[in-house]
Amino acid sequence: MSAGLQISGVSKAYGGLQVLRDVTLRAPAGSITAVIGPNGAGKSTLANVISGFVTQDAGTVVVNGATLPPGRAMTRAARRLGRTFQNLEVFTGMTVLQNVAMGAYSRQRGGHLADLVRGPRSRRDEREVHEAARALLDRFGLEGRADSLVESLPFGEAKLVEMVRVLAMEPEVVVLDEPAAGLPPASALPLAQTIAGMAADGIGVLLIEHNMKLVMSISEHVVVLDQGQVLTEGTPTQVQQDARVIEAYLGPGPMTTEELTR
Ligand SMILES: Nc1ncnc2c1ncn2[C@@H]1O[C@H](COP(=O)(O)OP(=O)(O)O)[C@@H](O)[C@H]1O
Ligand SMILES: [Mg+2]
Repeated sequence: MSAGLQISGVSKAYGGLQVLRDVTLRAPAGSITAVIGPNGAGKSTLANVISGFVTQDAGTVVVNGATLPPGRAMTRAARRLGRTFQNLEVFTGMTVLQNVAMGAYSRQRGGHLADLVRGPRSRRDEREVHEAARALLDRFGLEGRADSLVESLPFGEAKLVEMVRVLAMEPEVVVLDEPAAGLPPASALPLAQTIAGMAADGIGVLLIEHNMKLVMSISEHVVVLDQGQVLTEGTPTQVQQDARVIEAYLGPGPMTTEELTR
């Protein structure tokens, strides 16, 4: 059994549009594997297949040796697979602490968030969950925000809350879909530290990202997706020097240092 995420031969078409073609990649436990590629390459579709929001036409998604049932998003929490979305997904009308506690509840109840709404909970469960949530907020510098409504936070902090909520699930694998999208530059460092912290905790991180600087600074392995296929993969340095990658991003012609590092 290999620890982490293993995707093998995943294909997906929408009507006549082949969005993913025979995609195979690994995100081993305890490290950051990046998926980069131009807009429309199929990155979010891949994240949706992994997290069960989209059912693939072919191929398998395996977490810690267990094959996940295609298209069953609610079983993912039980398998300790978490994800964040390209668009921010937080629970508005709830405080930061309550948002993070939702992640911890989904762990306790095997992903059945409905239990939280329906059933009475013991005070002890509730206290444990809130203590765990507070500890995570401390760790990521959000303790001062615990009682703020999540929608009152600047975007960069709300994005961190989304990530901390996923961490509260105690995931073994996480898929992050463009976590840096829309973030102000000042939020880049806390974001990078949070992602690096996930890997340091032993989580297998699949980082889907357009921001090259972030990818190249924290990833161990980079997979380049283009038109639904793996174009190439390797270390950040190898991928940055690959002429096909430069062409997929920018069309023919040399890539400047500035373009690669922004
Ligand atoms: N639900 C859908 N129905 C039809 N086409 C889709 C759907 N989702 C994505 N696509 C198409 O699949 C391609 C890949 O999209 P996406 O996975 O979002 O790429 P990326 O995240 O790399 O920008 C695009 O051409 C997009 O228009
Ligand atoms: Mg996308």
